[in-house]
Amino acid sequence: SDPDLVARATAAKAALGEKVFVLGHHYQRDEVIQFADVTGDSFKLAREAAARPDAEYIVFCGVHFMAESADILTSDAQKVILPDLAAGCSMADMAVLSQVETAWETLAELGVAAGTVPVTYMNSSADIKGFVGRNGGVVCTSSNAERALTWAFERGERVLFLPDQHLGRNTAVLEMGFDLADCVLYDPHKPGGGLTPEQLRDARMILWRGHCSVHGRFTLDSVDEVRERVPGVNVLVHPECRHEVVTAADQVGSTEYIIKTIEAAPAGSAWAIGTELNLVRRLANANPDKQIMFLDRAVCYCSTMNRIDLPHLVWALEELVAGRVPNQITVDPATAEHARTALDQMLALP
Ligand code: 13P
Ligand code: SF4
Repeated sequence: SDPDLVARATAAKAALGEKVFVLGHHYQRDEVIQFADVTGDSFKLAREAAARPDAEYIVFCGVHFMAESADILTSDAQKVILPDLAAGCSMADMAVLSQVETAWETLAELGVAAGTVPVTYMNSSADIKGFVGRNGGVVCTSSNAERALTWAFERGERVLFLPDQHLGRNTAVLEMGFDLADCVLYDPHKPGGGLTPEQLRDARMILWRGHCSVHGRFTLDSVDEVRERVPGVNVLVHPECRHEVVTAADQVGSTEYIIKTIEAAPAGSAWAIGTELNLVRRLANANPDKQIMFLDRAVCYCSTMNRIDLPHLVWALEELVAGRVPNQITVDPATAEHARTALDQMLALP
């Protein structure tokens, strides 16, 4: 990275001292991650944000929904900053509050909303988390989805899972022993979700039709191809991948799990990793004694994670040094109160 920008970021961070805490998601660029005080998956970063009451500014190098969650979990006096406001998440955008409310009304008309527990993946807007909190549900991440679903099924007979169909299906079927037939796909663009009343009533998992465009690129062919090309390769994927990919893989887990697995792997072992490319490249560089490759030959970054680059980080830090607060992410208090209920419930999962 540009030595001038590195020097400016270093100087700005030093000038801010304890006032600033920089969080970095594992999908961030190397040039940004070098300035993170803590790196982590979504769950770890939410916990870290909540555990820094003394930091006046939390600079969140990640995407919008993560910064919103950090704002909800920190005190009113603390300010959360997203270095580029265009760092959104296409999956989070696939569930809009009005659509979810329509779905819930449909369930209420069928008389089954009361037995349905809403569960939302962290990758959703604060509005959606607020809806889930108001309706007795919980947030989950890729590292605690099974525990969140177990909690939900102790409270209801059916789950409405938002917005990632793949995490919902993979967790229910591969970790909890549900049948594929227990899951139905609710399409918010079709009346009634494109499902019959019987399908909605009989389903145990109502999966929202959302997905991650980055992880959606991995296919069963990607797995077959790498197994053929690299005999003995271990296939390790994120649970946002399609069901057939996760089923064919050897291991599945969050970004933090992927890192720990590679760190613990024996020298000489070969790994094809199905997740975002910045992380896979960093793992390859940090583990030269292992053969680390991207699961698909087609290169794929998360374009919104990549919006946060060193120039944006330098700009944000220098604005703070100058006494201005750039790109602050705030959640309105009414939404935040309910969203916090659902986030706290996640943090309290056994
Ligand atoms: P985790 O880091 O929690 O595994 O999530 C991956 C992701 O897609 C974040 O957007
Ligand atoms: Fe969203 Fe996928 Fe990017 Fe994660 S990797 S931020 S789910 S688009």
